[in-house]
Amino acid sequence: MRFANKVAIVTGAASGIGKAATLKLASEGAHVFASDIDEAGGRALGEASNGRIDFIRCDVCEPSDIKALMDAAAAAAGGIDILFNNAAAGGARPPIDEIEPEEWDATMNLILRSVAMGIRYAVPHMKGRPATRTGGASIINTASVAALGAGYSPTTYAVAKAGVLHLTKVAATDLARYGIRVNAICPGFINTNIFTSSLEVPEASKAAAKAVIADMSAAAQPVARGGQPQDIANAAAYLASEESSFMTGTHMLVDGGLTIGQRHAWDPETPGLFDALTAMGGGDANAAAPAA
Ligand SMILES: NC(=O)c1ccc[n+]([C@@H]2O[C@H](COP(=O)([O-])OP(=O)(O)OC[C@H]3O[C@@H](n4cnc5c(N)ncnc54)[C@H](O)[C@@H]3O)[C@@H](O)[C@H]2O)c1
Repeated sequence: MRFANKVAIVTGAASGIGKAATLKLASEGAHVFASDIDEAGGRALGEASNGRIDFIRCDVCEPSDIKALMDAAAAAAGGIDILFNNAAAGGARPPIDEIEPEEWDATMNLILRSVAMGIRYAVPHMKGRPATRTGGASIINTASVAALGAGYSPTTYAVAKAGVLHLTKVAATDLARYGIRVNAICPGFINTNIFTSSLEVPEASKAAAKAVIADMSAAAQPVARGGQPQDIANAAAYLASEESSFMTGTHMLVDGGLTIGQRHAWDPETPGLFDALTAMGGGDANAAAPAA
């Protein structure tokens, strides 16, 4: 019961990572205020929770909704200890030479401003939390491997998530004086609805699409299984807990090794340069390699 007597807010809680994190925090004692634009999904989560989860509708594109969420939760529970800024979708897909200004702004508001305003409106309710009991309040932002390099998402999403990562660092410096920690998680491929909803996959093809995501993601990384929402929920719970009390302004990469380096380093089926040279009679590929 790491979160007994703690109050947590989770955005994007009706599905995928947010749903798994909501259930994880509640199962370990937190009173969770789950929010989403999906009212049916969010309310179902609350109804099945024996009072541990309350649903409040919040569109994270609307700062007034975010403020209302934080104020309502704090009024009902006395303050906020944990904020998981997690809601997002795939955003605009055009490449940089085709994107319209409105599409750019909408994606930045959904993915980046939402996190900034989540922090902005939660912190007044976090400042008073007794550090001796809680180890200080904790904010966790969902970034992405797309924040770290190209090729994992559309351009606008990647730039917005990179902004989330940098916001995490600078917010940690702003909020250290209040004992509030701020960290991010960079998930790799996690098999949730974000792919099918962002790419508007028809209902009839969703199950097949999920199977493709599972197979392709398992093959893309050293850990040979698809990522699950629970993998990220476990990381979020760690960052929310006192076990991570020496961490702030940083990120956890939870990606099955997706970003670890070149494929030939871990996949024996993919030859690298040294293997190619060895095949030409250049020596033993398993011997210590010269620096690149
Ligand atoms: N699934 C992945 O592979 C992956 C990888 C890296 C990062 N992420 C990030 O993880 C987070 C969660 O995504 P997921 O994979 O669980 O997707 P998901 O689609 O399963 O869940 C996202 C939830 O956010 C909600 N949402 C969307 N727009 C919203 C808005 N304007 N206001 C409030 N709620 C809104 C949706 O209704 C949904 O319930 C997102 O920030 C996403 O960018 C996901």
